[in-house]
Amino acid sequence: MLKTHTCGELRAEHVGQEVTLAGWVNRRRDHGGLIFIDLRDREGIAQVVANPEVSAEVHATASQVRGEYVLRVSGQVRRRPEGLENPDMATGQIEVVANSVEILNPAETPPFYINRDDEEVDEALRLRYRYLDLRRGRMQRNLILRHKVVKFIRDYLDERSFVEIETPILIKSTPEGARDYVVPSRVHPGKFYALPQSPQQIKQLLMVAGFEKYFQIARCFRDEDLRADRQTEFTQLDVEMSFVDAEDVLKLTEGLFTALVESLSAETGMSILRQPFPRLSYQEALERYGSDKPDLRFGLPLIALSDVVAESEFRVFRQAVAEGRQVKALCVPGCADYSRRRLDELGEFVKKRGAKGLVWMVVEAGPSVRSPVAKFMSQAEIEGILARTEAEEGDLILIVADEPKVVAEALGGLRLEMGQRLGLRDDSVLAFAWVLDFPLLEWHEEEARWNAMHHPFTSALDEDLPFLETEPGKVRAKAYDIVCNGWEIGGGSIRIHRREMQERMFRALGLSKENVQAEFGHLLEAFEYGAPPHGGIAPGIDRLVMLLAGEHNIREVMAFPKTQQAMDLTFGAPSSISERQLAELHLLLVDDEP
Ligand code: AMO
Ligand code: AMP
Repeated sequence: MLKTHTCGELRAEHVGQEVTLAGWVNRRRDHGGLIFIDLRDREGIAQVVANPEVSAEVHATASQVRGEYVLRVSGQVRRRPEGLENPDMATGQIEVVANSVEILNPAETPPFYINRDDEEVDEALRLRYRYLDLRRGRMQRNLILRHKVVKFIRDYLDERSFVEIETPILIKSTPEGARDYVVPSRVHPGKFYALPQSPQQIKQLLMVAGFEKYFQIARCFRDEDLRADRQTEFTQLDVEMSFVDAEDVLKLTEGLFTALVESLSAETGMSILRQPFPRLSYQEALERYGSDKPDLRFGLPLIALSDVVAESEFRVFRQAVAEGRQVKALCVPGCADYSRRRLDELGEFVKKRGAKGLVWMVVEAGPSVRSPVAKFMSQAEIEGILARTEAEEGDLILIVADEPKVVAEALGGLRLEMGQRLGLRDDSVLAFAWVLDFPLLEWHEEEARWNAMHHPFTSALDEDLPFLETEPGKVRAKAYDIVCNGWEIGGGSIRIHRREMQERMFRALGLSKENVQAEFGHLLEAFEYGAPPHGGIAPGIDRLVMLLAGEHNIREVMAFPKTQQAMDLTFGAPSSISERQLAELHLLLVDDEP
């Protein structure tokens, strides 16, 4: 090694030792006589002193160095002079008096400060120079945390007899609800591989193969619109088990997540809010929180008012109930002092989410209410609303009347917004929960057919199966999602493992026999050779690490993520390829004739 110690490890106990350090110049201060260099490597920062009285040559070299130069420094560790210790630095007790400074490589002035973690830098610039961005403390901590998470998971599952198996990236289209990335075949003109949206069918084949307990830190590819929690390529902890029911998968996952968070709590400062993880049905989640990935760090539930306002003089409410829509409310504590302008802003907020309006009621002494619609309401009705919402003086009641979907979207969004404003979304707390009993199918309006809500390999609850042909929308799935702080962290299910049942499911999805054979023939065939009952789950590693790192965007925990426009700014991908390559891949018609 070019170094004997890391910059971050030097302490008072090293005083008197000759050491050699190597790293980057975090900062250089020229005090006329003495030059101080903060030398940085992955483990931390050490102060180096170049004293012209110790070595004129060292001092001359030190006076040339600039930020981010790569140096190798040898010298003696000494205690810093009385009163000049730096309690904010792990190595603040000591400094290294240099007797040699070697410039291993100079550096251009970086496009942003590497040594200031708190500085906001334009993300496009960060991604363009990602190798410099990754040199910053925050990104180093995030990626090292990610490494530890993955290592913990591997060890945990290994101890429980899981086998990690790599599966192919060049494969055939796998339906997970997004568009495929495809790769043209050179050898087979006009044919394409698809990159896996997940290893779903492959892991099921591994169960048929008898591995019983499989996992993989698996890269997945989905051509979909990118958001804070979505990337074109991302990583799943892909898990599959044979001879299990849903409870076994839930237990394994919960045990893993609990142990993981605990083992990393010293460095993340994170703790789990409730154990065991609360469980709620899809229906409950939508009704109480307006979302199938509720943020359970705080309450503030959506409260049903339809029955209370069914006879209201206020036409909007009466009509909504009469026509089968819903009236629901949020009761926000302590917001009765909101100004007219702020109330109007909340109105705009819900309108952006599809609502037609927002009724507000300020709860005053009595309690009584102040509201633009109070004059249309009877005393009994107002009392009914106050009782149902359990409102107290100082609260603000916010009401939306609409289709259930719109109410969920608008009030669910408003709930998160108010939770944020009230400081109820504590980032050091992880509110894990299970969402169960998802519908098996959902109606796809544009295609006018049923789609699998999770994926077409998910089995139905036994008691609902008889309705698969008659009332498909009523059938619930043996599917489960794990959610945390308002994000969907993972999803899974107990699978179909018999050919007839899988064929029945494909029929319910409106797939023709020919289509099924062409797309899923391999799976159906495998089910005929002794497929065991099996099920699994796939938590998203990026989202999990994001939460553990206290970040709000998965790009912050990925080394080289893509932009919202699916571009890699460091490499400049996607990019054009040569006509020769295109021709080789049969993507360009070339005239072979001379
Ligand atoms: P699903 O499609 O629900 O299930 O994905 C599982 C988890 O993967 C993560 N995830 C993503 N993370 C980042 N960017 C994306 N574009 C993205 N898409 C999904 C989420 C999500 O919860 N094969 C099934 C799992 C199974 O049934 O076992 C599957 O892929 O955290
Ligand atoms: P309008 O009758 O349209 O003047 O609306 C009177 C009040 O009711 C306004 O504050 C609107 O924002 C509100 N409002 C209108 N439609 C709805 C609705 N569907 N849900 C909740 N509030 C509404």
